[in-house]
Amino acid sequence: MHDTPDKTKPLAWITGANGLIGSHIAHSASAHAQGWRIRALVRDDFDLTDFPKVQRQFEADQPQLVIHCAAMSDPTVCEMQLAQTRLVNREATFFLSGLAQDIPMIFFSTDLVFDGKHGHYTEEDEPLPLTVYARTKAEAEALVLANQRHSVVRTSLTVGKSPNGDRGIEEQLRHRWTKGDTVKLFDDEYRSPIPAEVTALATWELVLAKRPGLYHLAGSQRMSRLEIGRAIAERNPEWNPKIETCSLRDYDGPPRAPDTSLDCSKLQQLLSFPLIGLSKWLGFSATQPA
Ligand SMILES: NC(=O)c1ccc[n+]([C@@H]2O[C@H](COP(=O)([O-])OP(=O)(O)OC[C@H]3O[C@@H](n4cnc5c(N)ncnc54)[C@H](OP(=O)(O)O)[C@@H]3O)[C@@H](O)[C@H]2O)c1
Repeated sequence: MHDTPDKTKPLAWITGANGLIGSHIAHSASAHAQGWRIRALVRDDFDLTDFPKVQRQFEADQPQLVIHCAAMSDPTVCEMQLAQTRLVNREATFFLSGLAQDIPMIFFSTDLVFDGKHGHYTEEDEPLPLTVYARTKAEAEALVLANQRHSVVRTSLTVGKSPNGDRGIEEQLRHRWTKGDTVKLFDDEYRSPIPAEVTALATWELVLAKRPGLYHLAGSQRMSRLEIGRAIAERNPEWNPKIETCSLRDYDGPPRAPDTSLDCSKLQQLLSFPLIGLSKWLGFSATQPA
């Protein structure tokens, strides 16, 4: 799908534009990236693993910027679909970075590239991915960063409305609570949650800053899953939220990283606004019980 037809502006490709983060980046371009024409790519335009088609489209469009948000992003699905996850997250990213070798590209990655043993991770910390999802993202990061024009943005659990209504953390909680479910939330697994509209604004500021490299982009507040759930519950009592506290100590599924909170001070220096915590964004404290 195409947005503004002003051909005098350079074209930016945004992949995964039907997803949570890609949709916010694409929609916010009219406010924050007026110098760009946007091609917001969704799967119906072409599958990113159809490399000949991707190449033909790239050569036809000649974009001057790629913001690559498309991914197999559900760690549980990735664990069950190893080959497809590798193809989408690693190989398609590598192919795209090759096509974009002479232009800026921003690749979205994840805080889950870390094993979560200590938290407050900086860009200097070594990735130690625990899952298929995280491993494919970490491998793609290294391939992308081989090009000095390209950037990797690691982000965290994202709050916001997605086109399909099922990708934002509060959308997933609303779905379960309004069905009458009690949702189990870890009180000892920590992330740095961020709203998708903030991610979008920061991404456009990073584009304008022209300072490629590796960046962490997340909220400034380290929050447990339980605190995040309570914050969302408090804001939405009409969803009849029911929460049961649980602990990683009692969990025996695929590996989970206990604390992947991110230090975002490197990116913060480039931004015109502070990356505050999720509670402040939501407008209240997350410390009260649901
Ligand atoms: N959301 C978070 O909490 C979070 C946290 C950390 C990192 N990230 C990273 O941030 C990026 C964006 O995340 P997101 O939450 O926006 O993901 P998302 O909502 O799952 O969106 C990903 C999009 O990629 C598209 N896609 C997947 N495979 C494709 C293919 N082969 N060809 C074309 N399109 C394909 C999907 O299309 P369909 O809609 O057709 O399936 C989907 O719209 C991802 O790299 C993710 O790993 C996200």
